[in-house]
Amino acid sequence: MSNSVVILAAGKGTRMRTGHAKSLHVAAGRTLLEWALHIADAVDPAEISVVVGHEADQVAAMCPSGVAVVTQEPQLGTGHATSVGLSGLKSLDATVVVLPADMPLVTPASLRSLVASHAASGDAATIMTVELPDPTGYGRILRTGNGASGGNVSGIVEERDATPQQRAITEVNTSVYVFDGLLLADAIDKVTDDNDQSEYYLTDVIGILTAEGHSVGAVIVSEDEGTGVNTQGQLAEVAAVLRGRINAGFLEAGVAMTDPSRVYIDAGVSVSPGTTILPDTYLLGSTTVGEGAIVGPSVEARDSTISANAHVRYSVLDNAVVGERAVVGPYSYLRPGTVLEEGTKAGAYVEIKASVIGRNSKVPHLSYIGDAEVGEDSNVGAATVTVNYDGYNKHKTKIGDRVRIGSDTMLVAPVTIGDDAYTGAGSVITQDVPDGALGVERSDQRNIEGYAEKHRKRAEKEAE
Ligand code: UD1
Ligand code: CA
Repeated sequence: MSNSVVILAAGKGTRMRTGHAKSLHVAAGRTLLEWALHIADAVDPAEISVVVGHEADQVAAMCPSGVAVVTQEPQLGTGHATSVGLSGLKSLDATVVVLPADMPLVTPASLRSLVASHAASGDAATIMTVELPDPTGYGRILRTGNGASGGNVSGIVEERDATPQQRAITEVNTSVYVFDGLLLADAIDKVTDDNDQSEYYLTDVIGILTAEGHSVGAVIVSEDEGTGVNTQGQLAEVAAVLRGRINAGFLEAGVAMTDPSRVYIDAGVSVSPGTTILPDTYLLGSTTVGEGAIVGPSVEARDSTISANAHVRYSVLDNAVVGERAVVGPYSYLRPGTVLEEGTKAGAYVEIKASVIGRNSKVPHLSYIGDAEVGEDSNVGAATVTVNYDGYNKHKTKIGDRVRIGSDTMLVAPVTIGDDAYTGAGSVITQDVPDGALGVERSDQRNIEGYAEKHRKRAEKEAE
């Protein structure tokens, strides 16, 4: 039988206190909804239905095409949400997985084994549960017999509706379930809002199914999959676990980290084996790092490419490309559209934006390069600035191959410096410099002999 997934993501997440939909909050580079979609992928779903409500447009915008988006308005509880979710599926004659958008620690492997166990048992429903030393806040799993986790599942009771004895139960509901779709659709209509919050609880379906004589199973997964995100504290906790898993995967694959607890890698990042990541480094978004690169300490790279054997330290990269063997930092800021080709250097206190620095060219110190094209084997002297903005428009600077830009050159764009050309230090270059020429713009130096002595005498006289 095919698998379909219903993801519950309509809740506001009042306890987050941000005013934003809970599923839009981010942990390790993915929103909580994206984590749910990622987990859902593990069971190869024929259909996915995402229930949206609070900030519906933003949440819906994160859903890939092919996913059904259904709106729950008003939000009357997880049972009501599931019923709305089922309306987004074309067929209910399927195995239906229900996944809340606030349990990102559930692993794809656990969801696969939940589905496998459900299929093997023939039960009407199978619940993913965890044993928590402190079960506070979660729904408790009720079992027949003496209530020990050996008996059959008979229901779930929410903490606020539980008796003191039920509260002592440590097996809790993760809110991840697998159902026989037709039986779920039938039972969900029988859920009432007769509870402390006057909400329609999905958890009540379990008691309804067992009361009708159906059997319900449970699969206990490891404790570290059981933390849900309801507060900022839990979001931070969950993000740390996700980062730990991401780092463990890279360490296993041959990436060196001197202190993994100080390395922050988003889920969408790729790091090749044989690289070294030093502390306080943030590799974010779709960043990739090539083999042999050394990144850190203190690098923030977002949506950037760091190629093989490059060395980047104490720098910020945003949508930048760092070529093979390129050297960046300390204290460089590479903004969107920066391309450093092979063997280049962007040294200390250098800002580059929307510019290509050609093979083996160097911008070693204290410069701003924007909207520029620099050829190969050129050197841009210390404190050079491309004056690219006239207050209205941005203009281009072109620098050829084998050029020597003198220190403290102002290149007033639009301007072109030809191949093999020079500019004199301190020049304000407003006109093109032809191939092989020296462009120099400054008055001749004159020395006033004996100035210091004359100056001292004049000063002493005035002081009398
Ligand atoms: C739920 C379970 C609880 C379980 C816990 C695990 C119920 C009644 N309780 O409690 O047994 O231990 O999860 O984390 O199901 N949602 C909607 N529409 C709504 C209400 C909620 O889409 O009307 C979504 C939320 O966005 C969220 C998920 O359902 O993604 C769970 O809702 P939440 O309010 O966090 O449930 P809990 O109180 O944590
Ligand atoms: Ca929750």
